[in-house]
Amino acid sequence: MTDRLLRGRLLTFNREPQGGDDIDAYTYIEDGGLLLRNGLIENQGPFADLVSEAPNVPLVDHRPHLMLAGFIDPHIHFPQAQVIASWGSQLLDWLNNYTFPEETRFADPDHCARMASRFLDQLITHGTTTAVAFCSVHKASVDAFFSESTKRGLRMLGGKVLMDRNAPDGLCDKPQSGYDDSKALIAQWQGLARNGYVITPRFAITSTPLQMEMAQALAAEHPECHVQTHLSENKEEIAYTEKLYPNARDYLDVYQSYGLLGEKTLLGHSVHLKSREISALAETGAHPVFCPTSNLFLGSGLFDNAGLRAKGISTGIATDVGAGTSYSMLQTLNEGYKVLQLQGQSLHPLQAFHWATRGNASVLGLEDRIGTLDQGTEADIVILNSRSTDAMALRMERCNSLSEELFILQMMGDDRAIEEVYVSGEPSKKPASPRADITQ
Ligand code: GUN
Ligand code: ZN
Repeated sequence: MTDRLLRGRLLTFNREPQGGDDIDAYTYIEDGGLLLRNGLIENQGPFADLVSEAPNVPLVDHRPHLMLAGFIDPHIHFPQAQVIASWGSQLLDWLNNYTFPEETRFADPDHCARMASRFLDQLITHGTTTAVAFCSVHKASVDAFFSESTKRGLRMLGGKVLMDRNAPDGLCDKPQSGYDDSKALIAQWQGLARNGYVITPRFAITSTPLQMEMAQALAAEHPECHVQTHLSENKEEIAYTEKLYPNARDYLDVYQSYGLLGEKTLLGHSVHLKSREISALAETGAHPVFCPTSNLFLGSGLFDNAGLRAKGISTGIATDVGAGTSYSMLQTLNEGYKVLQLQGQSLHPLQAFHWATRGNASVLGLEDRIGTLDQGTEADIVILNSRSTDAMALRMERCNSLSEELFILQMMGDDRAIEEVYVSGEPSKKPASPRADITQ
């Protein structure tokens, strides 16, 4: 690993901003420096201080661009890279007509390997350095996903979906085989390099009560692992779930009654919640994950972020590719802003950029390692170019503040705004910039 000194406009969050005037919530250094060593941020601060501390370290000058922690996407589907942008349905038809047939292809390990490489390329291209992924039902999909993340030095989380009913035969496991495969995958991947295993019952509709018991056993035996699933995304889904689990008090109670709720639990969507469910989320510390491009694309509904936050629930924001329509966390924040606008909730750009970095990290309980540019954390960094298109450059001529610039990036930015991405301190989007002489 090569030591590097990055120079640019440094922005990192210390806590969630309460609004635009909450200047203690973040650190912004106009001429900032990041010293990268052994995959970590060895030091950060004003460039002049860092360069005198490490005068012989190769310099990469990213001025005038912004340097932020890499984006974190806490809900995405690895086997859906060729499902994204499939027309015309709402959730259950979309799953049956497009998604399930596509996921059956992951029975082939060669397909898994090719897709894993292309999928992680897409994440990096869009500035995402950590994602929490649903793999397919096949063990080979998880092996391919973590093999590729290990090769690239990425911090990735993911797991094999448990699903034993209401799907094609080629996509169903059995309660025992799902448990056994998950155990073997945890033994192989959990904590290896930067990988984290996630226990992944897909959702209530595709798991029998017996499989939920197996998921419960896995979660109890592996408190080091996260748990992920889907919750209350679509009204037909909720009605069908209530039919399949007639004794559950509500949708969330299916998961709650099997002991699957805790601070390491991620619940994709959580759009149509009842008040008991909201109280249970607050009590258990489980995290709803807002997937705005997906919720709009499938016509699912509007996520009530302010309502959940008012109850002390901390929420993530994610792409949910392939029902989500973009890998870009910038575009996800863009659509998220609009979903919240429709409910009279205004998301400040400082809050938005906090959410996609430190906010999502803290939902994962990983803010001591990723999501900030703090000294000693892992060197996953995104370099953002606010003038990456003509339209943005034109708008930037009339930009007067950091908040305004962030909002322009949020509304107009996409992968073109991702100038460079560092993964464990290594430039990963393009070849390393040529060594430059230090000029002060
Ligand atoms: N619910 C169960 N599976 C899925 C999925 O793959 N995508 C979405 N958006 N919702 C789901
Ligand atoms: Zn999903």
